[in-house]
Amino acid sequence: MELSDVLIDELMGEISGILSAYEKKKGVVITTLHKIQEEEGYLPEAALAGLAKTVGLSLAEIYSVASFYKQFHFKPRGKKIVRVCTGTACHVRGASKVVDALEGNFHIKAGETTEDRKMTLETVGCVGCCGLAPVVTVNDEVTGAIGPKKIKALIKEIDAVEGVATDGSNGKGDGGHGKA
Ligand code: FES
Repeated sequence: MELSDVLIDELMGEISGILSAYEKKKGVVITTLHKIQEEEGYLPEAALAGLAKTVGLSLAEIYSVASFYKQFHFKPRGKKIVRVCTGTACHVRGASKVVDALEGNFHIKAGETTEDRKMTLETVGCVGCCGLAPVVTVNDEVTGAIGPKKIKALIKEIDAVEGVATDGSNGKGDGGHGKA
């Protein structure tokens, strides 16, 4: 065996050692991120800083792992996750009216969460029920053919959710919504 082969073998051994240690940490990080999000509904920075310290990674490394996965959220989310499909079929059948109605009523834009955390409003691409267009999902439950009547019912349903107090009140529906 030549000297260069020995060096390469040594280096490969070192690299695989480093990689497996990192991969192990990454596995622990991802599992913990899921648990934090399950409990908190999102990933608070303090929890991420604690995790970084525990596993011996920097906060930036934790963020880099977490932001790779779309399912992790870094801001508080609403109890109702309302997703309005804006795929072609839903767009043609008036999805923008649904978005406008929800944005207007709750004083937030798509992608935002109401201050009382009753709802997060999002727009999504085709959810695969084009025959029911326009379609909205609420916490993954699909509602199709959503017109003025169903929008009204949806607003009522969200209003009835117990919100998170941000001003010392009980956070229950008072019509005063705002973005978080
Ligand atoms: S475009 Fe909305 S469900 Fe397909």
